[in-house]
Amino acid sequence: MAGPADSRHVAGPADAVGPADAIGPADLARPADPVGPTAPECVAGPADVADPADPVGPAAVRPDRTYLITGGFGSLGLLSAERLAAHGARHLVLMSRRVPGPVLAALRERLGPHVEVVPYAGDVGREEDVRRLDGALRARPQPLGGILHAAGVLADAPVAAQTWESLDAVFRAKVYGSWLLHRASLHHPELEFFVGYSSMASVLGSRGQANYGAGNAFLDTLLCHRYAAGLPGMSVNWGAWGGIGMAASMAERHIADVEHQGLGFFEPAAGMRALLRLLSEPVPQVGIAEVDWDRVAATRPLPDALYAPVARGAGRSAAAVDLAALLRRPRADRREAVSLVVRGVIAELLHFDGPEDVPPDARFFEVGLDSLAAVDSGNAEQGTAAGNGR
Ligand SMILES: NC(=O)c1ccc[n+]([C@@H]2O[C@H](COP(=O)([O-])OP(=O)(O)OC[C@H]3O[C@@H](n4cnc5c(N)ncnc54)[C@H](OP(=O)(O)O)[C@@H]3O)[C@@H](O)[C@H]2O)c1
Repeated sequence: MAGPADSRHVAGPADAVGPADAIGPADLARPADPVGPTAPECVAGPADVADPADPVGPAAVRPDRTYLITGGFGSLGLLSAERLAAHGARHLVLMSRRVPGPVLAALRERLGPHVEVVPYAGDVGREEDVRRLDGALRARPQPLGGILHAAGVLADAPVAAQTWESLDAVFRAKVYGSWLLHRASLHHPELEFFVGYSSMASVLGSRGQANYGAGNAFLDTLLCHRYAAGLPGMSVNWGAWGGIGMAASMAERHIADVEHQGLGFFEPAAGMRALLRLLSEPVPQVGIAEVDWDRVAATRPLPDALYAPVARGAGRSAAAVDLAALLRRPRADRREAVSLVVRGVIAELLHFDGPEDVPPDARFFEVGLDSLAAVDSGNAEQGTAAGNGR
């Protein structure tokens, strides 16, 4: 097993970070900071971001820089290492709490002798470990050029069953680790990218993952804060990677649940292409995911304006109106058909089972619509008619 004793283990001055680097409440709560996007700049499918026809490596990756990958021996960490090397990186430092010797040997074998792979056994959420790592990175002849922060664990539980332990387990990498890396990165002026491997769980929410959603939301906000401050920072809210990593170890029931909530699993190669493209065109926060927005919108417990611009309204209980067909029907039938659509929209807004639960002669406010919902209802009805009138 390779580890700290390995000849290529990062080793350097023990004390690189001073006492001022300790985390304090004042550091974490600075209301004056321009922090705060809560939704990614855009959410795109991997194929939309990636350009398979682009044979040029990202400008941000250089052979004379060191690249740090936390969670480097996890599935996405290893894949990221390979892709960075394929784009010209020659010095990689892979950090995780355990360094699996055979995995390290196999990676070195695949990358060949011209790529230096340095394992670092440490907990990114532990100040002492990050301090040692930082010192070692500063002692390297190739300055630190980029960080891929991919360390993370799951500790799923229904929200009422979350404990401090289940929060702390997830926060180690996502909260404490992100913060410690952020502080350490300030010592590395050559840094060109700092990418957080966040999750759509912090954007859409995810059943059983309140701790994971919160931890990733911290990561998102920190990286947006860095970006706003002119520092390298980009948080990628990944959707579900197919076949590898956390997704590969999910129970079938959980996979079905993810799909039910509107996320599809995407090809690892497409995800990596998307990431590499973004390295040279960074944004503070971006979602890369296969999302069925209609399904996302339909499976939320309450209507949510966030999805209105992207959901096409499929799955609505209201019947669609085919205006041409409607006009061909006898006048008396038209009234009944329109009434059915309007009552269907109201039933949807009020979470009734169907249009038959809304009496045809009901007054809007008597069945429970407030003025805002009435406006939504009007918009939905217009959309239904307009969408079918083309
Ligand atoms: N796979 C997906 O579909 C998906 C989707 C959205 C987001 N993500 C994010 O992408 C990242 C990578 O996911 P993955 O699928 O590759 O997971 P993975 O295969 O489980 O790898 C995670 C890695 O993180 C390391 N790690 C965990 N806690 C650490 C800590 N405190 N300090 C240092 N290393 C730590 C683990 O090694 P040790 O246990 O030895 O430390 C492991 O190498 C995660 O942050 C995850 O949240 C993944």
